[in-house]
Amino acid sequence: MTGILNWNELWKVMRSGSAWRRAPEKDAGFWDKYAKRCNESVMQSKERAEIQIAKMELDPEYSVLDIGSGVGRLAIPIAKRVKTVTAIDPSKDMLAYLKENMEKKGVKNITCINKRWEDIELGEDINPHDVVIASYSLGMFDMQEALAKIDAAAKKCVYLFEFAGGWMMDEKLWKELYDERHPAWTGYIYLYNILHDMGIYANVEIRDSDYEQRYDSLDDAVNKWKEMHNIPAEKESILREYLSKMLVEDENDGMLCFKRKSKSAVIWWKRKAHEW
Ligand SMILES: C[S@@+](CC[C@H](N)C(=O)[O-])C[C@H]1O[C@@H](n2cnc3c(N)ncnc32)[C@H](O)[C@@H]1O
Repeated sequence: MTGILNWNELWKVMRSGSAWRRAPEKDAGFWDKYAKRCNESVMQSKERAEIQIAKMELDPEYSVLDIGSGVGRLAIPIAKRVKTVTAIDPSKDMLAYLKENMEKKGVKNITCINKRWEDIELGEDINPHDVVIASYSLGMFDMQEALAKIDAAAKKCVYLFEFAGGWMMDEKLWKELYDERHPAWTGYIYLYNILHDMGIYANVEIRDSDYEQRYDSLDDAVNKWKEMHNIPAEKESILREYLSKMLVEDENDGMLCFKRKSKSAVIWWKRKAHEW
């Protein structure tokens, strides 16, 4: 039931605002462009994946659905612990890297579906899975509809991972680059409240997390940030100055590291057997 605030409508307003559009366009084309870099960086962060997986109750007999799987950062280690994984992603390139990673890691039990979550038909494209996860992949316009489908697709448990503030760009820089207020990426608070309005009383845990990106050079970092954040050409000097202060050289390999503290949320709920 919706209270005084309609969180789903609020989400849509936030989602349609210019601040959201400054961030990566979350269509398959953007993610295709980003896939190579994503594959190079995220598959290294095994520790981060293990922290997320440790939150999940998994069983060797389980089926797991990974919505917005990307290159398989979670799908691959999860596949080693369960019977089957279904990975859904609208980006062909992300799934191509996922398949390459499966080969490299000798993983054979992942089925890939190249679709947006919004376009998935339950009962046609997929059947319910024991566990459903979505990690930093919930950008759907109608979040309530997306969450209702997620809930319906789960037999036992759902785990959602989202930012809870302190995203990679700080407020001062955002204001300087775009001449507008920072959007405060606290996606989890919308998800939690929309779920509550749907009668799903989810658990939430917030934890500190370290965001890290590595670059070959300052030019490399500037170019990647420009592409990723839609930064206007005339603001490049501001970005360059910011990154030159933030990047720290790794003594071991000479790479430049961008590090930032952030907060992440895991939202999870169990389904009761009679609900499916
Ligand atoms: C930031 S990546 C996260 C990848 C992975 N879940 C992880 O945690 O490493 C976001 C992923 O969500 C996918 N995605 C974007 N919109 C989606 C949608 N509407 N339905 C399903 N996946 C989507 C993108 O293609 C991308 O691979």
